[in-house]
Amino acid sequence: MIRLLENIDLKPYNSFGISAIASSFFEFTEKEDLCNYLSNSAMPEKHIILGGGSNMLFIHDFEGMVIYPNIPGLGLVNEDRNYVYIEAGAGELWDDLVSFAVHYGLGGIENLSLIPGKVGASPVQNIGAYGKEAKDHIWLVKGVDLRSGEPVEFLHEDCRFGYRDSIFKNEMKGRVVVTSVIYRLEKFPEFSLEYGALKAETEKLGEISLSTIRQAVISIRSSKLPDPVFLGNAGSFFKNPVVETGVADSLKSRYSTLPVYSTASPDMSKLAAGWLIEQCGWKGFRKGDAGVHKDQALVLVNYGKATGQEIVDLSGSIQRSVFEKFGVMLEPEVNIIA
Ligand code: EPU
Repeated sequence: MIRLLENIDLKPYNSFGISAIASSFFEFTEKEDLCNYLSNSAMPEKHIILGGGSNMLFIHDFEGMVIYPNIPGLGLVNEDRNYVYIEAGAGELWDDLVSFAVHYGLGGIENLSLIPGKVGASPVQNIGAYGKEAKDHIWLVKGVDLRSGEPVEFLHEDCRFGYRDSIFKNEMKGRVVVTSVIYRLEKFPEFSLEYGALKAETEKLGEISLSTIRQAVISIRSSKLPDPVFLGNAGSFFKNPVVETGVADSLKSRYSTLPVYSTASPDMSKLAAGWLIEQCGWKGFRKGDAGVHKDQALVLVNYGKATGQEIVDLSGSIQRSVFEKFGVMLEPEVNIIA
């Protein structure tokens, strides 16, 4: 099914709840719909690919085409001794995939419970939480190349995954529309509970299992992160900055409570952006309808009528004050759409 619309308000399509008019909006429910469309017409130069809109900030109307892959489907495609391979359509809600996996006793993505957004964005953004990342279980990404109009596939190693990063945000940015993802899930799950209070929270719920881990993650997230249905937001607005370990050590010697995490490289360390922002006094700040969440300083919120520009202005002020105090430049995790 194809729907090609003009002058659509994107407010219901982005979790910040920002009003922005898109000149055209192309929704489709099957990969072939997109291939057929591309065999007859070229994609307009200016376009964006929209999933759940949970990581997007529109700063004004969008004079181009919004591509909206609303492809359903959740099912088993293969199985071997240790793994089950589940293919999920780009348009499925991410948390429905997690719930499906946990229900069938398949391990790997339970720590990623309740992350907003859709399956199609999961490899693009390499979503992550509580010590796990989507990349740990992505086997194959299927999509369509907007230039050739042909189907394409990316094996795990082709995706060049990094922290909240992949080839789809770099070389293939705006070029590949993800249509489905095959996740390789564990029949004999290995739990990952090292992050923060996850283990303690899970134990409170009884024996450690996929289901108790999922419940614990849901309870931690719901206690800290605002639900976009009630308060517009896009989760973490900034990435946790990765700095040279020497820089992290010197900051830690001045600020002993600064949370510092190791990374894959001993030369680089990750700092908690929320902590840096809170130390600059921003937590709970509000100007007009744009604000900083009262419980998690990494989350910027729209109290109702904020414009994208007001949120971006606030983020700029936060970046400047964190830089002045700590010498660290925060980089947005949210995609700012100009
Ligand atoms: N912290 C503060 N003040 C704050 C917020 C955090 O001091 O206002 C401190 C906390 O006390 C803690 C540390 O910073 O010591 C880390 O905080 P938290 O556990 O809340 O995680 P985070 O690093 O702020 C990241 C992800 C989240 C993910 C959580 C849990 C990024 C940019 N964000 O946040 O992802 O849910 O870890 O794994 O990596 C998202 O990407 O939208 C998102 C919500």
